[in-house]
Amino acid sequence: MLPRLDAPRLGINIDHVATLRNARGGTHPCPVDAARLAIASGADGITAHLREDRRHINDDDMTRLQALCLELGKPLNFEMAATEDMLEIALATKPHAVCLVPESRNERTTEGGLNASGLHNQITHIARALAENGSRVSLFIEAVPHQIEASHKCGAQVVEFHTGAYAHALDAGDADKAEALLQAMRAGAKQADALGLEVHFGHGLTFGNVSPIAAISEGKELNIGHFIIGEAVFMGLKPAIAEMRRLIAEARNIDI
Ligand code: PXP
Repeated sequence: MLPRLDAPRLGINIDHVATLRNARGGTHPCPVDAARLAIASGADGITAHLREDRRHINDDDMTRLQALCLELGKPLNFEMAATEDMLEIALATKPHAVCLVPESRNERTTEGGLNASGLHNQITHIARALAENGSRVSLFIEAVPHQIEASHKCGAQVVEFHTGAYAHALDAGDADKAEALLQAMRAGAKQADALGLEVHFGHGLTFGNVSPIAAISEGKELNIGHFIIGEAVFMGLKPAIAEMRRLIAEARNIDI
């Protein structure tokens, strides 16, 4: 195999440090301290999702995460629903990147991708306001051709492909479905790249399923949260990030 010398960036999603903090309503463990440790441990950036119900990250966390990322010269990827209320907060926060995600109060986590084609007008307006304010705009979508095309038309600079269905198919032992979803993401990555969209991946990624995703050569960033924070309970955050980075580099045939 020819070496592919560009490892994708690893963004660490620290939402579930806040989930743990909120279980007791206090200040510990602090997601901003976790973000600092994640960066010291090799994360290329921090991702956090300010949900409408504030179930984990809150407004003050987001402000402090942006300050931390500016201090350390690392990108903050602010995930949010495509609403006017969230837009106002993101415009004030001025993060490096904003990832627009679908959101429903009843879901346990972000289930499925954004309907970029159905919500074209709303997303185009929000994407333009964010881009004019200096944030890079990413849309969290399924890797299907019409959503990729629609993301481009909405003015996004990045698409993040939702890897949740692929992860679930593997968990359920459905190798054929996982392979079909992987093929769709490989094809989608080529389509997006040809349109000038940067390609990211995220959701449900683990040590066990990350390699085929990391091997997709158009991918420039992986955003991983729940598994790494969970694994940190057993092995610590630094070794968990190091192992994820090792697997990603190995998938690209890079020595680290
Ligand atoms: N990327 C996006 C857009 C997400 O919404 C999430 C979950 O909030 C992730 C990545 C990280 O997913 P996980 O926590 O399953 O690794």
